[in-house]
Amino acid sequence: ETSDKGHYRHYMLKEIYEQPAVIRRSLAGRLGAKKILAEAMGAKAEEILKTVSSIQIVACGTSYHAGMVAKYWIEGLAGVPCRVEVASEFRYRKFKVLENTLLVTISQSGETADTLAALRLAKTLGYCASLTVCNVLQSSLVRESDLYLMTEAGPEIGVASTKAFTTQLVALLFLTVALGRHHDMSESEEHEIVSALHELPDLLTETLALNTSIQTMSNAFADKHHALFLGRGAQWPIAMEGALKLKEISYIHAESYPAGELKHGPLALVDADMPVIAVAPNDVLLEKLKSNIEEVQARGGQLFVFCDKAAGFTAAKGMDIIELPHVSDVIAPIIYTIPLQLLSYHVAILKGTDVDQPRNLAKSVTVE
Ligand code: G6P
Repeated sequence: ETSDKGHYRHYMLKEIYEQPAVIRRSLAGRLGAKKILAEAMGAKAEEILKTVSSIQIVACGTSYHAGMVAKYWIEGLAGVPCRVEVASEFRYRKFKVLENTLLVTISQSGETADTLAALRLAKTLGYCASLTVCNVLQSSLVRESDLYLMTEAGPEIGVASTKAFTTQLVALLFLTVALGRHHDMSESEEHEIVSALHELPDLLTETLALNTSIQTMSNAFADKHHALFLGRGAQWPIAMEGALKLKEISYIHAESYPAGELKHGPLALVDADMPVIAVAPNDVLLEKLKSNIEEVQARGGQLFVFCDKAAGFTAAKGMDIIELPHVSDVIAPIIYTIPLQLLSYHVAILKGTDVDQPRNLAKSVTVE
């Protein structure tokens, strides 16, 4: 991919559409038929990763949301304790460093001031090693980390991060498997992840084909001032990322909540003027999420549900649905990111904002 817009109206849209291709590229040479190849993590990685017994992730913005998803994977699939923190908090508080903890930074640019400062600080605190998941090979984070895992997204110009996020998630799945081999992941579990990754590029293309329905849905948001995004499990960070995208480029105030927290506050805000977006793959938490959705319906909230074909939702008054292809649990967070990116893009178009250069924001925050 080149750094011009091609036939796209905005870089952001072009970058959204590049996702199947850049993910295909980030899988190439790293994914065997049934296993993640040892080369995926670089030569030095194996030596370091076999000694690791816990993970500390540090990042900012969208990259922090990728870290939040990784926590569900690293603890849930690899069986390795994992903490995640925004870099600006991490660097200014006192905490205990557990033995054999790997410090993982995640960054598109590799130059974010707080993330870089966190890495430099961590080197003085007794972490066993550092790894960065990064998109820029010549960056400070890559230079200063013991290990790096490149995201292969290519140049990302739109300030709102899209393809960098989904390629970070792919890289973090590689890390999950590499850790899992020394901990709780069986060979058959690794095979399942690998076959889901093989299917990912085509499923992304299929999901992008929902663009027209999402564009139609976006009309309902143009006159709104607030929106609430709900998800559960690894989809909660996807809801966080959806809310961030909407506020960044359309300037609509958006919040995200793990759906189970709805009744502990945000339900008080729900009425016809507060659209509620729910991400609902067909996973173990589906029934729980459905009851959260009913709570919204009972209060007259307008629901917009992105769901699995087999999830059993039907459109009704007050509830729009868009059905996504059926996907395995492990890659669902990557797939469900796509409609939320497209939704925020189309809402921003309706609002007439500067999609690629939103006011007050910078692509790379290199000062504190
Ligand atoms: C800025 C950008 C975001 C990005 C964040 C972290 O806020 O606008 O898109 O997620 O910085 O940047 P990094 O380069 O470290 O991922």
